[in-house]
Amino acid sequence: MKIQECKALITGGSKGIGFAIAKVLKDGGAKVAITARDPQLLNASAKQIGVEGIVADVRREQDCSKAVGAALKSLGGLNVLVNNAGIGYKAPLESVEVELFKDVWSTNVLGAMLMSREVSHVFKKQKYGSIINIASTAALRGYENATAYVASKFALRGMTQCWQAELRRFNIRVILINPSEVQTNFGRKQKVTDINPKKLLADDVAHTVASCLTMHDRGFVPEITLYATNPW
Ligand SMILES: NC(=O)c1ccc[n+]([C@@H]2O[C@H](COP(=O)([O-])OP(=O)(O)OC[C@H]3O[C@@H](n4cnc5c(N)ncnc54)[C@H](OP(=O)(O)O)[C@@H]3O)[C@@H](O)[C@H]2O)c1
Repeated sequence: MKIQECKALITGGSKGIGFAIAKVLKDGGAKVAITARDPQLLNASAKQIGVEGIVADVRREQDCSKAVGAALKSLGGLNVLVNNAGIGYKAPLESVEVELFKDVWSTNVLGAMLMSREVSHVFKKQKYGSIINIASTAALRGYENATAYVASKFALRGMTQCWQAELRRFNIRVILINPSEVQTNFGRKQKVTDINPKKLLADDVAHTVASCLTMHDRGFVPEITLYATNPW
């Protein structure tokens, strides 16, 4: 599909990777809506790049259906969903807190399912659409102190494969993108100020999303993993 034909809803689009995806699509001529929980930052970010801002918490079923309804209305349809909203939580196994574990799961797994379930009605009816799930290299291999995050991203990868199996016959493409470390403020108490030009930027993920979308609709890339070429 052409970027100009995209009517895209991006969760967690107020900053970081989601914001970069929204900007690249908007700059390419797409109609774009972004979601996040914090209305102030969301509205400022939406205004900055001229896209629609929809306050919605992906952990809440009602918010997800409202967000899809609002995007359909404001964009005049919908053919792309990017499940990008995500949070992290680091703790050694012996001190994993149940509420924090559940919060990661509710955001990264349940949230992506709720949003995808909602758009699947629209995409199946129109027999067309793309769902892009932003996972992580944490979807491929576990590492220390990352029980909740790794579990959630493995689950997102598993759900992606289920949806690929279910939705291909409706011309719906479901794509998983696994970035390694990207220089955003994700999970950081202090803002990233020193950008290392050799490490990945949010723009690199946005470029990957745009490449997947612009491929002819007869084909799709099931999964892409992104590494910095030479971060050392
Ligand atoms: N940065 C990395 O190194 C890296 C690497 C691999 C994968 N990823 C993945 O990429 C995605 C984006 O990460 P990022 O680095 O851009 O993070 P970020 O800068 O912290 O941005 C996260 C975005 O998600 C939104 N969000 C969080 N919880 C939400 C909820 N419950 N409902 C709706 N929106 C929510 C945030 O806004 P509000 O807080 O206002 O809701 C914000 O817009 C995540 O899924 C992350 O796991 C990141």
